[in-house]
Amino acid sequence: MIVALIGGGAQAKYAAEIFRLTDIHVAAVFNLKEDQPPLEWPKAYGVETAYFKDFQAIIQKKNVSHAVICTANIEEKKHLSERIEKSGLTLLSAIHPAARIATTATVASGCIINAGAVIQPFATIGKNTMIHANVIVEHDCKIGEYSNLGPGSQLAGWVQIGDGATVYTGASVIPAIKIGTRSIVGAGAVVTEDVRDTITVVGVPAKPVDAATKEKAF
Ligand SMILES: CC(C)(COP(=O)(O)OP(=O)(O)OC[C@H]1O[C@@H](n2cnc3c(N)ncnc32)[C@H](O)[C@@H]1OP(=O)(O)O)[C@@H](O)C(=O)NCCC(=O)NCCS
Repeated sequence: MIVALIGGGAQAKYAAEIFRLTDIHVAAVFNLKEDQPPLEWPKAYGVETAYFKDFQAIIQKKNVSHAVICTANIEEKKHLSERIEKSGLTLLSAIHPAARIATTATVASGCIINAGAVIQPFATIGKNTMIHANVIVEHDCKIGEYSNLGPGSQLAGWVQIGDGATVYTGASVIPAIKIGTRSIVGAGAVVTEDVRDTITVVGVPAKPVDAATKEKAF
């Protein structure tokens, strides 16, 4: 399988590292902006980097069949996802060999799942989701599309994470809690109540960043 990585930041570095440990060949890493010059770091992986404007020519020349979109920006990811599918490529998930995914869990396309992540039975991970190192997703969790689980975050059983939501580093969510679409859980928070859409919560127990919005948030 030959894959292109689209995006030059941390997510592309994770994917390059993951694919180096598998038999999937990375043909090139593309910067996101058409006119941004090629990157330096992919050379450490022995991988070519190129201008995004040359994307079509390079994927044809190198027989690229799959792509991983490597950006945390949801709008950018959605736009690129459509573009990739139109160009005839298939979105691929990059799953670190040291991640443990239960046989009854499902991972949609376009995800990046890092080392030490544990996805327990009957959990579902929506497409284009980023799961950092040492994340725990317990049984029967439902993780929406385009979401982001930060390093070491922990979701107890039956938790639901809305599309485009982020749970930052080391945060915990107790069982059966729903985190709304595009909401953010701050680093180290412990979420004990449902969080409505587009709200940022922090602390233990987690409360909205602006306490004045508390009534609206929960
Ligand atoms: C949640 C977060 C995004 C909030 O950012 P923000 O909306 O810009 O909030 P601010 O920085 O303006 O802080 C607002 C208030 O919340 C507090 N606060 C912010 N993050 C906090 C956190 N994680 N825990 C507790 N309090 C926090 C601030 O101290 C500030 O309090 P104050 O009003 O009493 O001074 C951010 O603080 C955070 O937790 N980032 C984690 C990033 C991370 O883990 N990245 C890893 C990449 S995968």
